[in-house]
Amino acid sequence: DKTIGVAVLGMGNVGSEVVRILEDNAADLRARVGAPVELRGVAVRDLTRPRKIAQELITDDPAALVARDDVDIVVELMGGIDPAREVIRTALQSGKSVVTANKALLAEYTGELATAAADAKVDLYFEAAVAGAIPVVRPLMQSLAGDTVERVAGIVNGTTNFILSEMAETGADYAETLAEAGRLGYAEADPTADVEGYDAAAKAAILASIAFHTRVTAADVYREGITNVTPDDLVAAKKFDCTVKLLSICERVRGADGSQRVSARVYPALIPLSHPLATVNGAFNAVVVEAENAGRLMFYGQGAGGSPTASAVLGDMVMAARNKVHGGRGPLESTYASLPIASIDEV
Ligand code: NDP
Ligand code: HSE
Repeated sequence: DKTIGVAVLGMGNVGSEVVRILEDNAADLRARVGAPVELRGVAVRDLTRPRKIAQELITDDPAALVARDDVDIVVELMGGIDPAREVIRTALQSGKSVVTANKALLAEYTGELATAAADAKVDLYFEAAVAGAIPVVRPLMQSLAGDTVERVAGIVNGTTNFILSEMAETGADYAETLAEAGRLGYAEADPTADVEGYDAAAKAAILASIAFHTRVTAADVYREGITNVTPDDLVAAKKFDCTVKLLSICERVRGADGSQRVSARVYPALIPLSHPLATVNGAFNAVVVEAENAGRLMFYGQGAGGSPTASAVLGDMVMAARNKVHGGRGPLESTYASLPIASIDEV
């Protein structure tokens, strides 16, 4: 029985929940993967901070942890470009699969990293990088791979949606609500990324790239944040039966000559209260996809926070682990055979 060794880089809001679920759900994960999944180590920056994990698992040297022979999958949850970019590239080149939630990195370097993954025939998965717990990356990359996506639009930043909906509903103070988003684990380490729209622009770049099978970077995305939205704007919006949401819109634009281009933009927009996106409040996100044959699809759920994001990370980790063990096919029979069947009157 091959044991799958996992290195987790980062033990903040998301990493600490990933480590908790890895430990709490070890038996289920083993059944779903078809082999034991073992945490080999966790990289952090500050070794002196108390952590809910055995001290011998902790290191401040992510590169050394990733280089270990008994590490098969690297889960990158440090954020930022450096050292994440180099560590991920080295991991892929040495035959390890990588799961990351790092949208800032992916919005610039998906091309380089995807090439490294393809060359080494390993997985690079990033479901958690867009819209937290909501499965939207895999549906676009797999379920809709045979269709033609025309538009991907919605709310993809939980922090700004939390701030805007709290301000609209209760007249809450902007700065206090932003601080609360930080305490709740929604905001980025530097929340400027959230409120100035950089995070939503990075997600738009990722969504546009995978939806339209092209390469869009954050710099290609028109971006406005929410820092100029005032309480008066929200009061005025309400008078017109509207609200303000930070929207991310990616579209395939067709020219009269048959040419095609991609438009990607992030900005605060006035939307009618009757629109489905107006009911998306707090740190929830929603993404509407329009495809030529599928029609309209809507994805909705928790877009930020430790455990929702960890759920998406663990899903990717299970897929990568199954690929390592079985070449893609999970042990479906063994997963379900042990579950007793409820009789209809128990349900
Ligand atoms: P945090 O800032 O809470 O945690 C970052 C962790 O990485 C910390 O444990 C930190 O160590 C560690 N770290 C940072 N730099 C280094 C380094 N150079 N070497 C070793 N360890 C390092 O971030 P989050 O958990 O909130 O986010 C992690 C990633 O997930 C980011 O890319 C973020 O954009 C993404 N993401 C976050 C979501 C959320 O809701 N929070 C949702 C979706 C994606 P130390 O503890 O010592 O400071
Ligand atoms: N800071 C991000 C947000 C985390 O608020 O949406 C989830 O990607």
